[in-house]
Amino acid sequence: MHFVTYATASILALATSASATFAQVNNNCPVPIWITITNSIQQPSQYAIPINGTYLQTRNGVGNAFGLSKTSAYFSTSTPKWTLGFTDSPQDQLLYWSVINADGDPFAGQPWSVVLSDPSCAPLTAYDGGRVHACGIVANLTVTLC
Ligand SMILES: *[C@@H]1O[C@H](CO)[C@@H](O)[C@H](O)[C@H]1NC(C)=O
Ligand SMILES: *[C@@H]1O[C@H](CO)[C@@H](O)[C@H](O)[C@H]1NC(C)=O
Repeated sequence: MHFVTYATASILALATSASATFAQVNNNCPVPIWITITNSIQQPSQYAIPINGTYLQTRNGVGNAFGLSKTSAYFSTSTPKWTLGFTDSPQDQLLYWSVINADGDPFAGQPWSVVLSDPSCAPLTAYDGGRVHACGIVANLTVTLC
């Protein structure tokens, strides 16, 4: 079975934008993964992405983050966390993104990838110290876990 979680705001954005771009997380891990979504304009929101589930939302604005962890206590310093930060910059038509981990590695021994739909943008499959990557703003961003 395949589960898709849509953020409510994304459904509105989907209905009003023909050229939406997306940020997506696919959970292929044998356990649910918690996603904590933060951005500059609203309180953090959290969902459990079930085994084989997907979280999908439209992308826009600056200072967005998807925090991933194996428990819901994302903000606890005892919870290993993996965080994707991303910013859409219409001024220069680029998507900027980076990955860090903190308080341990929630996916130690398990593969993960960040893949852009634009094949000229290299995927990331290992921590790189939070290096900022750039890709064309129309590219979709997909995180796959395990
Ligand atoms: C997840 O997907 C795998 C591969 O298709 C399948 O073997 C497994 O049973 C699925 N697990 C759940 C909980 O749906
Ligand atoms: C991004 O994803 C949407 C929805 O799946 C798709 O319609 C669109 O063509 C994708 N964009 C690119 C550049 O691949």
